Amino acid sequence: MLADCDSQASPRTLILSPHDGPLAAGSLRISVGNGMGVESKQDIKPLLNTVLVGDCMTELRKIPSRSVDLVFADPPYNLQLSGKLSRPDQSRVHGVTDAWDRFDSFAAYDEFTRAWLSECRRVLKDDGALWVIGSYHNIFRVGTALQDLGFWILNDVIWRKTNPMPNFRGRRFTNAHETLIWAARGEKSRYRFNYDAMKALNDDLQMRSDWLLPICSGSERLKGEDGAKIHPTQKPESLLHRVILASSAPGDVILDPFFGTGTTGAVARRLGRDFIGIERDPAYAEAARRRIGKVRRLQGDAIQVTRGKRALPRVPFGALLERGLLKPGGKLYDPSGQHAARIRADGSLVCKDATGSIHKIGAHVQGLDACNGWTFWRVRKGGKLIPIDLLRQQVRAEMKELA
Ligand SMILES: C[S@@+](CC[C@H](N)C(=O)[O-])C[C@H]1O[C@@H](n2cnc3c(N)ncnc32)[C@H](O)[C@@H]1O
Repeated sequence: MLADCDSQASPRTLILSPHDGPLAAGSLRISVGNGMGVESKQDIKPLLNTVLVGDCMTELRKIPSRSVDLVFADPPYNLQLSGKLSRPDQSRVHGVTDAWDRFDSFAAYDEFTRAWLSECRRVLKDDGALWVIGSYHNIFRVGTALQDLGFWILNDVIWRKTNPMPNFRGRRFTNAHETLIWAARGEKSRYRFNYDAMKALNDDLQMRSDWLLPICSGSERLKGEDGAKIHPTQKPESLLHRVILASSAPGDVILDPFFGTGTTGAVARRLGRDFIGIERDPAYAEAARRRIGKVRRLQGDAIQVTRGKRALPRVPFGALLERGLLKPGGKLYDPSGQHAARIRADGSLVCKDATGSIHKIGAHVQGLDACNGWTFWRVRKGGKLIPIDLLRQQVRAEMKELA
């Protein structure tokens, strides 16, 4: 069983508390793995908003199957760095040389990748999805593994860095981007994509798959007392903001099996989602805990997902007649009031020699191929021409009240 402070089970487990309201320092839960695993039937609730400290393969087994909505994974890159790298002024470049990023061979990396991806697929809900971020060192291997395991790739997104590290030796192009793969659990998954929210975030333009964002720096970058970076690869919150807004809903459960400094947890919490983090290094887990403890969880309108017209319930024109908002035998007019069409009891219109739907007759009177009848036709009320779309909105509002 997963132990926590409330149950006084394990002295190695630190509890930080779950959701709502600002977290008091020390109130987010960190559980240090004991390797015993948890029965898969266990409710996911005790794991929410916790950082599980341990190897991801052990900790992932504690998460019930089909319980997670979204995974964001920033796995080891297997950078294969050798030798020291210096800037032209001879200062040392601190690349990722940590033990967690070292693998003996590509085969060992592939085996590890397939193992954690399989576990992530197990814990994902049927309609869930996963994001993985990587560089040219690993992302192609990860992509192959994803497809082999049954994930369905939806997009690859280029995170183009506004301020990348230069190529100090001048022997290659400046490595100015990382790649994210977004994949549904399977081909049939009805994954979430908040299309209209992404459009709203992008000044009403469709969001493209190349994202120009700065690397994590300034006050966002976690530093120790010595002023040194706490983690070599802390991701910018702006990146997670976009990922989480695009592909999850408030209240969803987001899992990050390589939590590091908890960027995923911090943004998930701010946006009203729940998270589960897994991190092997206790120092990183503790840094994540402190960081997330300072984040205020947004609520209500602030995190409502913008929905487009496509998400609105369909209202047939005939419903306006059935509800008495329009009368059979009455007339509809074009915006100028010059053309009129008579309404029939079955919801069709008659205009001169033609009969058909509001769309067909709207196109006919204008000599066009197509027309949106809802925005074209008006009804005369109180001496004014009112768009019939207003009547449709009235019906939708009633439908919402009944739901
Ligand atoms: C690329 S970093 C993630 C950084 C994170 N996205 C952030 O913004 O801080 C990968 C992290 O995974 C952790 N890690 C590596 N191998 C792991 C494993 N087998 N189980 C759990 N954590 C692991 C490392 O300690 C490291 O903090």
